[in-house]
Formats: sequence, C-alpha cells, structure tokens
Amino acid sequence: MNPARRPLVAGNWKMHKTAAEAQAYAQALLPRLATVGAEVAVCAPFTTLAPLIDATRGSPLGVYAQNMHEQPAGAFTGEVSAPMLVELGVDGVVVGHSERRQYFGETDRALCEKVPAALEAGLTPILCVGESEEERAAGETDRKLRQQVREALNRVPDERLASVVIAYEPIWAIGTGLVAAPEQAQEAVAFVRALVGDRSRRAAAGVRVLYGGSVTPENAPQLLALEDVDGALVGGASLEVESFAAIVKAAA
Ligand code: PGA
Repeated sequence: MNPARRPLVAGNWKMHKTAAEAQAYAQALLPRLATVGAEVAVCAPFTTLAPLIDATRGSPLGVYAQNMHEQPAGAFTGEVSAPMLVELGVDGVVVGHSERRQYFGETDRALCEKVPAALEAGLTPILCVGESEEERAAGETDRKLRQQVREALNRVPDERLASVVIAYEPIWAIGTGLVAAPEQAQEAVAFVRALVGDRSRRAAAGVRVLYGGSVTPENAPQLLALEDVDGALVGGASLEVESFAAIVKAAA
C-alpha cells in the first residue's frame, strides 16, 4: 500500500443475503469500523441496497451494487441503471466481474460504456479484470489485462481515470482457495497501474488497484502490504462479519 492512496476493502456478497440478513450484518459490522482508516464497502444484491442504506446512514460503510446497465433507461427487462442506484444513495458498483463475464455475457465492449456511465452518474466503479488459468499458463496474462483495461477505460476522460477502482482478480483464484502468490499479485497489479499510466501518469499515481481472489484474514496482511495493492475485493470471506472485519483491520 502507498499512503498517497486510501485503501479500499470491498466485500462482494454475490447472490447471498436477504434484506434482513444484510441489515443484521450491517449492525454487527458498524461498531467494528469506528477506528478504521481504510474505506470499507459491501457490494450487495439489489434487493438489499435500500435497507442497507437505511441501516448504514451516517456511517463510514459504503454500499455498492454488483452490476448496472450502461443506459440510463430503456427496454432492457430485468436490468437496473446507474440513475436508479444513485437515487437510492448507492455509492458505487462492481462492473465486469468474471462471473458476470462468464455466466451473463458481459463484454469489454459493454464495459466501455458502463464505466463512464457509472462515473457520470456519480458512482465509483470497481472494474474487475483478470486472466484464466489457461491464459496464465500460456503466458497471456499481460495481453489479457491490457485488452480488458484499455477497452473498459477507453471512453473515460484522462482526468476521471483516477476515480475508477480496478480490481485485479485472477479467475483461477476466485472462490478456489488458491490465492495468488504475493509476487504474482504485485506484478499484475503494478502492470494494471502501468496500463493506466499509458494514458496518464498522474492517474496512475492516484488510481486504486485492488487484489481479489481467495482473500482471507490469514493472507490479507501480506497481500495488503504489497507496494501497488491498494486494498482487496473479498468474496467468501466477506460473508461473515468476523472474517471481513479482520481483513478490514489488516488494511488499516
Ligand atoms: P473470493 O471471491 O474471495 O470468494 O475468491 C472474490 C470475488 O469474486 O470478488
């Protein structure tokens, strides 16, 4: 971590927690955040967003969605737009998660519209990028990251680039318990930062790049200590208050 950038620890609940469970979680987590210097957020299912915002009003806990449509409104059955999220008081949104890319056909082309649409609406986008096991084995990690980062940021003006959060999440590490080795995480995260630097050196110094993929209270201190890692996107270990709070503490 670099003191110039405020660390962000975001819990990605995926399709877990009802509204009642989300509220109980927030009540248990909030007292644990009183003395924390890091920014902390939960990325929660749509149905829990309004109750979470009620339960966390005036607190330092950010509330993020896990997806949005790139258009503000239209004939897109089942979708939710950035202005709808902003109206609720949502702070940000995960875009391009590998599960959305794999199971729901999310493309770099759609992300090229989603990232600026989120920013324009006032949401902090967490753009997820990362290579598969096969791509890493074939030595294609850099090529994959270059393509994903370049295309998704293509329409973001240089002066807004540092407002995007990028999460490097190797697909082989997501939900598998196979965390990236510290050298692998540092190398890839630094590469992502350098890709932003190809657009703007200033943005590269300010943009936050997170690591995600099997982060636990045990491995978080080492990952979060890496020079270019500005926080974590946490899946499984964010579902329990105890383990998420321990990861947050490691970032503080
Ligand atoms: P995991 O998920 O921590 O359970 O590996 C990370 C993610 O999908 O963001």
